[in-house]
Amino acid sequence: MDVEKLRAETPGTANGIHLLAAGSALMPQPVIDAVINHTNLEARLGGYEAHNQMADSLDNVYDIVAAHIGANRREIALMENATVAWCHAFYALPLKPGARILTCEAEYAANYVAFLQRAKRDNLVIDVVPSDAGGAVDPEALEAMIDDRVGLIAMTWIPTNGGLVNPAAEVGRIARKYHIPYLLDACQAVGQMPVDVEALGCDFLSATGRKFLRGPRGSGFLYVARKWLETLEPAMIDHFAAPWVARDRYQLRDDARRFESWENSYALRAGLGVAMEYSMALGMEDIQERTWGLAAACRDMLAELPGARIRDVGAQHCAIVSFTIAGLEPIEAVAALREQGIVIGASTPSSTRLDAEARDLPVVMRAAPHYYNTEQELKQFVQALRALSPK
Ligand SMILES: Cc1ncc(COP(=O)(O)O)c(C=O)c1O
Repeated sequence: MDVEKLRAETPGTANGIHLLAAGSALMPQPVIDAVINHTNLEARLGGYEAHNQMADSLDNVYDIVAAHIGANRREIALMENATVAWCHAFYALPLKPGARILTCEAEYAANYVAFLQRAKRDNLVIDVVPSDAGGAVDPEALEAMIDDRVGLIAMTWIPTNGGLVNPAAEVGRIARKYHIPYLLDACQAVGQMPVDVEALGCDFLSATGRKFLRGPRGSGFLYVARKWLETLEPAMIDHFAAPWVARDRYQLRDDARRFESWENSYALRAGLGVAMEYSMALGMEDIQERTWGLAAACRDMLAELPGARIRDVGAQHCAIVSFTIAGLEPIEAVAALREQGIVIGASTPSSTRLDAEARDLPVVMRAAPHYYNTEQELKQFVQALRALSPK
C-alpha cells in the first residue's frame, strides 16, 4: 500500500492524528469530491435535474455495494445509516408470540432496545448466547440453544466497544442448518475486512458508510437475501417502496428497495459509491492486513504504559483497540488528547451493556487506526497518553 499517496489523498491527515475509524473515519478526496460535485450540480440545476443527469452513475451504486459484499444488486437497499437498515429488517420479520430471539453478549445498544420493544409488544423472548472462554460468541452454545421456538438469530459481528471479531460465518452455518433467519450487524466490519454474504450465510446484513468504509455521514445500506424479496413486507412503506396501483391496492417492489422511501440524499449516495469503489480498488485483504497490523502494534505500545489494560477479547483482534489506564479518566483523557490534535474515542457501558456488565467494564478508551495512519502517529499518540497518565 502506498501510504504516502493515500495520506496525500486524505486531507484530514494534515490536521492531526485521527484514530477513530470506528466512529467516523477520514474521507478520501474522491469521496469528498463526489458529495460536493453532486451538491453543486443540485445548486446549478435543481435537485431533480441533477438526479436525472447523474441517474446512471447513481444507479451504479447498487452494483458497487453488491460487488463489495458478494450480493446481487436486487438485494441492496441504500439507507441513511446502519441502524435504520437493521431496523427495517428486524421490524419486518414476522415473529410469533413466544418466539425466541438469540443474540450475543456484545450486541449493540440500538439493536438491543429494539429487541426489548418487540419483546414487550409482541411477547417475544430474548436469549443471550454465552461467550466462550476467549470472549467470542460460542457457536456450540448457540447450537445447543436451538429449538423450534427460535424465530431469529441477530448478532453483532464486530462490536462497537473493542477488537472482538465474532465467528459470524459459523453462526451462519447454524442458522442455515436450522432454517432460522439470521440478521447480522456488520457495521464495524464492512470496510476493514472482506465481507461475503454467501460465506456468512446471513439473510440480512446492515452497515454504515462513515466508519471503516470512509464514506460520508448519513449513508448506509441493508442487504436482504433474495429468498426474502418475494415475501417480506416492510413495517413501513411509501409509494416508492410500493406503488399505489389501484384505489385499494399497492404493489410492493420486487427488490430490496421495497425498504427504501422516495426521498434520499443523492449526494451522500454518490459519496458512498465512491468510498466503496475506493476500498475495493485497494483490496479488502490488504486493508485488513494493514489496519489489523496497526492495531496490533498499537496494543503492544499501549501495554507498555503503567496501569494499562487492553480490554479486547476473542481469538482474533480487529482494528478497534479498547483499553483503560489505572487512574486516568477516559472521557477527560479523550478531551485532553483532542486538545493536542489526537482523536480517539470512548465507549460507555450502555453501548454494549451485556458485555460491559459481564466483564465489569468501565468506560473504555477506543482507538481505531485506519490504513492511512502510520506507526509514527501511533507512537506519538501513546507518548501523549503516557504524559497524561498518573506517574
Ligand atoms: C456495532 C454497531 N452497530 C451499529 C451501529 C450504528 O450505526 P449507525 O450509527 O450508522 O446507525 C454502530 C455505531 O457505532 C455500531 O458500532
